Amino acid sequence: MSVAPTIIPTSRSKSIGNLYESVRARTLEIVAPLEIEDYVIQTAEFMSPPRWHIGHTSWFFETVLRKFQPGYKTYSEDFLFYFNSYYEGFGPRIERPKRGTRSRPTVAETKRYRAHIDERMTRFIQNLAHRDDREEILSVVRLGLEHEMQHQELLVYDIKHLLCDQFDAPLKPLPPSIEAVSGMAEIEGGLFELGYDATGKETEAFAWDNEKPQHKVFLEDFQIDRAPVSVGDYLEFMNDGGYRDFRWWHSAGWEKVNQEKWEAPLYWELHDGEWLIRDFGGLHRPIEKSNEPVSHVSFLEASAYAKWAGKRLPTEAEWEKAATLSSARNSKQVFPWGDTEPDEGKGNLFENGLWSVAPIGAFPEGGSVGGCQQMIGDVWEWTTSDYAPYPGFKSDFDEYNDKWFVGQKVLRGGSFATPRTHIRSTYRNFFYPHERWMIAGFRCAK
Ligand SMILES: [Fe+2]
Repeated sequence: MSVAPTIIPTSRSKSIGNLYESVRARTLEIVAPLEIEDYVIQTAEFMSPPRWHIGHTSWFFETVLRKFQPGYKTYSEDFLFYFNSYYEGFGPRIERPKRGTRSRPTVAETKRYRAHIDERMTRFIQNLAHRDDREEILSVVRLGLEHEMQHQELLVYDIKHLLCDQFDAPLKPLPPSIEAVSGMAEIEGGLFELGYDATGKETEAFAWDNEKPQHKVFLEDFQIDRAPVSVGDYLEFMNDGGYRDFRWWHSAGWEKVNQEKWEAPLYWELHDGEWLIRDFGGLHRPIEKSNEPVSHVSFLEASAYAKWAGKRLPTEAEWEKAATLSSARNSKQVFPWGDTEPDEGKGNLFENGLWSVAPIGAFPEGGSVGGCQQMIGDVWEWTTSDYAPYPGFKSDFDEYNDKWFVGQKVLRGGSFATPRTHIRSTYRNFFYPHERWMIAGFRCAK
């Protein structure tokens, strides 16, 4: 990424103001097709009712106003309780599994709360110019917007769990596959600079604390799949009895297979002995989807497939190296295709408007130097790496990323529900190994 000239604080306030407006508007666009009843239902302990997301993302900005706006009066103590997620530092809260057990605050009250916070926040951002703590505030507002983009993606997962094809998503037609993608890229090992390089970046550049600091790791030579594992590939594993053979599974995976009676990824349904896949577009035969990345698989299933295929999952350093390899030896680029931002031709992200994975080979422009495709967008990709702090990690914000450094696995690359402005090759997403309501798939390494 080129280094932009120093941006004067007033223009940074203005651009944060614009970003605030567009991000906040998109959350409401996502939920626009919902009916009132849809907003309050919780269909599983791991999901949250849409009303909660609408309020919680506003609650986040209310904590900013409460801290930095002199004389700000709390909107409602009850809302503080209902809309806090997991922040001990912000007081007591309703437990996540119980978010769907209340009908109050109502959807209309929640939307009024949201409008109130927006009105206050817009004025607050406009009047920062003369404050000494302006930079600190702008950073927290930016954090709030990145937080909201994470919730936009969670909203897509949760609405899918709630309604799936009953949701009237504004689906655009899937792009065709332009290029056959096969085989594995051979990547040379050696020292690799893992993580986000914060030096020399313009002040507007954003990365989470967990992507920093950039540091050296040593990699052996490795191979990585050019394409994500497809529905067709995965169906072979299923047809070969993959879910019935303990040899492919970690102990925790085999336990889940037996306990939860897993026989297929989430959203696959057995109809008269035939597997069908339900998504926002309806019910499909796997044959129609055989060239699309498989999704809604857990780390445990991805690992079992990889073992069955005689491969393994990549580490996050291998994944990042494959995604950032530049043709200039030993240098690193921001995205697989270079340093320019994602656009419609480079990867399937939220703005593409597909509400679905796209066929493998639909984004040749987004390919990496080694020929890996769809690393950015479509599905988050499981890695074998534990979600842990990088050496030299420094927390930028208490209880945001740092309290989750136990027991989760890292996923890379973003999905069709990730906003374009939110993703980077160094982005570390994390979920528990058994979770699969997220849009997660994988590619293998050797
Ligand atoms: Fe949150």
